[in-house]
Amino acid sequence: MRAITTLPGTPDSARLDDLPEPADDPQMLLVQAVAVGVCGTDLEILSGAYGQPPPGRDRLILGHENLGRVVRAPAGSGFSAGELVVGVVRRPDPVPCPSCAAGEWDMCRNGRYTERGISGRDGYAAERYLLEPAFAVTVPAALGELGVLVEPTTVVAKAWEQIERIGARAIWTPRRVLITGAGPIGLLAALLARQRGLEVHVFGRITDGPKPGLVAALGATYHTGSVKDLPACDVALECTGVGELVFELMAAAPPDGIVCLTGVSSGTHKLGVNLTELNKQLVLENNVVFGVVNANLRHYRAAVEALARADRGWLERLVSRRVPVQRWHEALVRGPTDVKPVITWAS
Ligand code: BGC
Repeated sequence: MRAITTLPGTPDSARLDDLPEPADDPQMLLVQAVAVGVCGTDLEILSGAYGQPPPGRDRLILGHENLGRVVRAPAGSGFSAGELVVGVVRRPDPVPCPSCAAGEWDMCRNGRYTERGISGRDGYAAERYLLEPAFAVTVPAALGELGVLVEPTTVVAKAWEQIERIGARAIWTPRRVLITGAGPIGLLAALLARQRGLEVHVFGRITDGPKPGLVAALGATYHTGSVKDLPACDVALECTGVGELVFELMAAAPPDGIVCLTGVSSGTHKLGVNLTELNKQLVLENNVVFGVVNANLRHYRAAVEALARADRGWLERLVSRRVPVQRWHEALVRGPTDVKPVITWAS
């Protein structure tokens, strides 16, 4: 069967391999791949900067944004052949730490978790793969191939859950949200913010292509320029990983303001920051700045729910390119009109 593999740590080492079928395991779901999304993390792995192969191996099967169809399910597992499923990316650490033991592996304390397609475990970019029923989430048939958006949506489902938990520390009636980044994560964050009835402002770098229109279609406002020019926003969601923006958002936060960081920075650019001033502001204004990484089953279910409530046409526009697996490498090159490219398997 065909699988996209790479040598973590070695740039440009990805290839389409012919691998043996997964072993027979009566405890596991056997799943046929439908689609795999490509995100910034995949590009980092492909550049050699991130990722780990499974123990004792050199190559890693890529793919963590996934959608598949169940071929065979263990009796009593709650799953049946023919249904669409998304596999969770993270697996708990082996200790396990108190978070992993409670099913909150997204909050792992010792860092010994593994991630399918990223770190220490094969991913989902294989024609067929095994999936533990306890790490599978059903995707409603009506969502169809758009179920490939579930995994990136878990990032923002968790972000919103945590923002709301933090907000609950005070009398909190958020009205205005600022989102930096109009990539898939920024757009999905904006979708969930609009579903909460909030006034949404999205900052992006570009003025053409589909992103400004996707923001407008949500009833949100697209901006380029500086976040300093906006009125105060109760919540800021940083979805670019650009380090400078983190400090701009912290400085712009109003009293009781919450800044949530979802992007992972790379690069070595150094910044001069007045930490004394920042410390004073954080204390005197009760500001919270925090990071989130996804996701446990609760967030996967919340993501499925949010996508099921969303306008299908809008979600279709998010999946900007479908690339058949035999031309997989085309999905790894970002085009000017790309939002979310996905690799598809004939099913
Ligand atoms: C994935 C997460 C993962 C994170 C860090 C993201 O792209 O969506 O599941 O935890 O990368 O590896």
